[in-house]
Amino acid sequence: MAKIHRDFPADFLWGASTSAYQVEGASLEDGKGPSVQDVKVIPPGTPDFKVASDQYHHYKEDIALMAEMGFKTYRFSISWSRLIPDGVGAVNPKGVEYYNNVINECLKYGIQPLVTMYHFDLPAALQEKGGWGNPETADAFVYFAKVMFENFGDRAKLWLTINEQNMLTLAGPAIGTFDPTGVDNVPKALYQQNHYMMLAQAKAMALCHQMVPGGKIGPAPNISAVYPASCKPEDVTAADLFSAIRNWFYLDMAVYGVYNHQVMSYLRDHDALPEIKEGDMEILASGHPDFIAFNYYSTATVAAYPEGEETAGGPSDQQKARGEAGYYKPFTNPNLLKTEWGWEIDPIGFRNTLNQVYSRYRLPIIITENGLGAHDKLEEDCTIRDDYRIEYLQRHIEQMQLAIDDGVQMMGYCPWSAVDLISTHEGFDKRYGFIYVNRGNFDLKDLRRIPKKSFYWYKKVIASNGKDLANDL
Ligand code: BG6
Repeated sequence: MAKIHRDFPADFLWGASTSAYQVEGASLEDGKGPSVQDVKVIPPGTPDFKVASDQYHHYKEDIALMAEMGFKTYRFSISWSRLIPDGVGAVNPKGVEYYNNVINECLKYGIQPLVTMYHFDLPAALQEKGGWGNPETADAFVYFAKVMFENFGDRAKLWLTINEQNMLTLAGPAIGTFDPTGVDNVPKALYQQNHYMMLAQAKAMALCHQMVPGGKIGPAPNISAVYPASCKPEDVTAADLFSAIRNWFYLDMAVYGVYNHQVMSYLRDHDALPEIKEGDMEILASGHPDFIAFNYYSTATVAAYPEGEETAGGPSDQQKARGEAGYYKPFTNPNLLKTEWGWEIDPIGFRNTLNQVYSRYRLPIIITENGLGAHDKLEEDCTIRDDYRIEYLQRHIEQMQLAIDDGVQMMGYCPWSAVDLISTHEGFDKRYGFIYVNRGNFDLKDLRRIPKKSFYWYKKVIASNGKDLANDL
């Protein structure tokens, strides 16, 4: 029988994403305080964040190009330390002005701002006081939320709480947001931080509903279906556990206000249960997301890992699992191609993941990251022929269409990234944007914006509301 396609919803939010520290630059300009990203040890061979893509000085041009692509939304993040240099206390009027300008510029073109409150860039002043390990940081986050809702909530209606809270917990040392030096029980410290972030998120969601008329808010973790390496029941048990650890622990709390039972048992085994104070569970149950946003790059595959077996764990990053004897170990899926950086590419896994999330939570879904990092080449005729990126996105959008056919309620799609930006580990060598930024890792050149081939392709996709995915330009 022929597959019957449903259309993308008429109000589907096509757009793309960035984050403040990876794109803005002006890292200490106009009163901005340093964030953890400004003070961290920069990986050798990659640039610092002082200039990035210089969106701080190019936002008008960038947003005009997004409008030319037909964006319905732009997902960007607010730099906490640009708005509140010390994380708490005085508000920086220049910070308020900048984000007002960005929001107004978006609205001028009918682009809805989709604002991430916090994307990996905690104010350094808060980090000095213990960062997320200090419960006062959660209070500071609620204050930050209040300042944002007060200043921008009349025009910005779509909000995301914390970018990839699960990765901050599972891969904080790799992202550069958690320093394990001298910490006795690292899992305990990380899951305690996570508890404070959960409290901060729940309070921010409740506050958004109180303060922003018509405002909608949701969490933004990195979610991926977890496959068992085989149909052996032991592998399925390992995959179920890893999926709970990687995915459901965060969303069960955001949506239902409960701690996932399998992960609590795993944490008990590690003496890593968070300390939960009286009243915390009520707070956690009081924040209700209106939608689920998630970032999707790949799926994960794991196998059982019996105690005593040779170690199989590798380094973990945002996408890869680290093995742990007695629980699970990473398994390379032989059915998937990989990016230049070894990230598995799994468009069908995207449909699987969308269905899993929707079945579990029954909330509309917006994808806030998905994309291909690549070495793009600026040709002599000033074109960037990124057909590989078009193919990657095409295949994921096709699968999103099939998920819509399956009955998943999709609200929008924002690939990573709108504009080239500094990757978390590879600087400007690994680009994701529809818009090329003419700079190298250390040679700033002229920072000129040049639409890539994918820019014109995505424009066509948006104009046809997802019907025309052909790469025929
Ligand atoms: C996501 C982050 O995990 O992955 C982004 O939210 C990041 O900040 C993106 O840039 C891609 O990762 P990378 O390491 O290729 O920059």
